[in-house]
Amino acid sequence: MSHPDQENTSLLRTVEWKNNKVVMIDQTKLPNELVFVEFDDYHQVANAIQTLVVRGAPAIGVSGAMGLALAGLQSKGDTTEELIEDLEKARKILYETRPTAVNLGWGLDKIMKIANQGSSVDQIKKSIIEEAKKMAEDDIKINKEMGKNGSVLFDNNDTIMTHCNAGSLATVGYGTALGVIRATKESGKTIKVIATETRPVQQGSRLTAFELKHDGFDVSLIPDTAVGYSMANKLVNKVVVGADRIVRTGHVFNKIGTYQVALIAKQHGIPFYVAAPLSTFDMKTDANDVIIEMRKGSEVTSIGNKKTAPDNIGVINPAFDMTPPELISGIITEKGVAKPPYEESIKKLFEAN
Ligand code: MRU
Repeated sequence: MSHPDQENTSLLRTVEWKNNKVVMIDQTKLPNELVFVEFDDYHQVANAIQTLVVRGAPAIGVSGAMGLALAGLQSKGDTTEELIEDLEKARKILYETRPTAVNLGWGLDKIMKIANQGSSVDQIKKSIIEEAKKMAEDDIKINKEMGKNGSVLFDNNDTIMTHCNAGSLATVGYGTALGVIRATKESGKTIKVIATETRPVQQGSRLTAFELKHDGFDVSLIPDTAVGYSMANKLVNKVVVGADRIVRTGHVFNKIGTYQVALIAKQHGIPFYVAAPLSTFDMKTDANDVIIEMRKGSEVTSIGNKKTAPDNIGVINPAFDMTPPELISGIITEKGVAKPPYEESIKKLFEAN
């Protein structure tokens, strides 16, 4: 365990494969403590995803993949068929932890594809570990590419608003939306950042404010209810957020509250950008068929251990919402920036890939 004041957070590894274990930062302890937890059982990884020890679409994609690699090591199967059977069981448990972020299924499918191409039990176990580790390395490279592609959209002296946490802690490292903010600063521009608190789980105040303040950014925190005020009073020049699933029509699913931020930005003529890797695009599912995760009411009725609502009150707690393409100025990816109309520009991104 080490105190948060020791490392540049863009270098922090949110999840890592070490000595045949999965090591991750326990994000429920942030910003007060930087605690690393390690797992040798894929059920522990599944639980970590469900309880938000690790969260953020790319981070849970890689965590799921590493969970499957653990399941390979845990399997007692003597034949490739028995091993694949054990992996399929683990895949189902990991996949059912959270429904909205497409990266989880993407990560699990990549590992299963490698496993099904395997020639022997040992070869499969080794190759899926290597694939999971490669996915972690690729994630950082992709975020840096995305950062560069997005940084040109932001100007010197811009104040940039972001919602939730799409930073190092939501990926393996560097971040998507926060990667664009980092790259903008690294390109020599002077910028300020406004981070929304992002109730009920406070990924904005606990994680984004922590990352950016720690890395020396000029960052301010606002309650989610101050987005309108901030934009109406010209405190914001542009917005950039992450995504959990983007469908081929350009509809973007991201942390609850993103839709409201986009609506108010539109009202005030403020450019609203989304940053996400191609692994976050779902070219098959229609926007109306995307499952929005509903989380437990206690996330809303209490803050930490303090009850903030009467007992037995009904709670509606969707973890994500949908922002329609007409509210989005551009989608920043590692392969370039897609602009409206998105059905064409997204298709082109994949054709170029
Ligand atoms: O519930 P969470 O914390 O997993 O939600 C995370 C988000 O909505 C992020 O904005 C998104 O996953 C993008 S992460 C690069």
